[in-house]
Amino acid sequence: MFMNSTMPRDTARAELEAHYDLAPSLALAKETQAIYDVVKSVIPEPDWAMYAPYIAAINRLKREKDAVILAHNYMTPEIFHGIGDVKGDSLQLAIAATQVEQQTIVQCGVHFMAETSKILNPQKTVLIPDGRAGCSLAASITPADIQKMRDQYPGAKVVSYVNTTAEVKAASDICCTSSNAVEIVNGQPGDTVIMTPDGYLAQNVAAESHKRVVYWEGACIVHEQFTPEELRAFRENEPGVTIIAHPECPPAVIAEADFSGSTAAMINWVKTNKPEKVVMVTECSMSDNVAAELPETNFIRPCNICPHMKRITLENVLWALHSGTEEVTVDEALMEPARAAVEAMIKINQED
Ligand code: 13P
Ligand code: SF4
Repeated sequence: MFMNSTMPRDTARAELEAHYDLAPSLALAKETQAIYDVVKSVIPEPDWAMYAPYIAAINRLKREKDAVILAHNYMTPEIFHGIGDVKGDSLQLAIAATQVEQQTIVQCGVHFMAETSKILNPQKTVLIPDGRAGCSLAASITPADIQKMRDQYPGAKVVSYVNTTAEVKAASDICCTSSNAVEIVNGQPGDTVIMTPDGYLAQNVAAESHKRVVYWEGACIVHEQFTPEELRAFRENEPGVTIIAHPECPPAVIAEADFSGSTAAMINWVKTNKPEKVVMVTECSMSDNVAAELPETNFIRPCNICPHMKRITLENVLWALHSGTEEVTVDEALMEPARAAVEAMIKINQED
């Protein structure tokens, strides 16, 4: 485990140890048995004795500090099942951010997700346990790049994936997530739509859309690694396996899959269809989180890790709640235009 970027690790660690008993504890493991029962197929007991003191302290602090934890599907199981209050894909977390009552939101996810929560809740405190938790997609594009694309395709609307910075959202007409991208693109006026920043998502959307989709060539470092050969090998080595893939994967990978959808859509698909054997072609913690709930399904687990998501740990979540850092702020001038782009997306979803 490691700390966030606001304080040297040793100083923060000493401060936490002065306030909380964080030694592995069988007694606390017992106290948190109800949570462990959910994750016992994916977390060994000795590890739970290590996690339990953090989980107990975090869940207590949440109540004391009027805080809620929004946890993305790529969080590790001890975070996802142990301390997450609202769990889901990017769209579900963005919508939840408009509905939570607590004064503080702790975003267990990456920085653009925390920014989205802040954009939707300017009056609330939004904390990210490690502000260095970035995203290769969000880092791939700037507002100047958006302007270049607007100049190249005059009049075309700009649909930006939520995996973007606040300043890129502010320069866009509307946001989308992987679960509503086709609907959002199809709903734009004109024949041509600009999609940023994920080139693969854009190509996968184009395959299902009647629009001409032009796109920025950013990529997710996790999903771009999957290959169609790898998926064919799963079919060969695991007869009867069902393959479901995230639309951030290259189109040739999606073509080999039985189903494609956002992380939440992938989870729903598995829960509804209950395949005997499945590969979830996405970040590897998600399979652990779903496997914990579906012991009868055999999950084949290729493991591509998102190093950004993995910056979030129980230790730095506890630190965030204890210290009130790292607070996520968004430039005042960006707030309104960025919110307009995110809210336009949420409105379309709520009309469905
Ligand atoms: P969704 O959860 O919206 O499918 O997004 C996946 C992702 O990579 C988030 O960073
Ligand atoms: Fe970004 Fe990919 Fe990591 Fe999601 S999994 S945060 S898209 S790098």
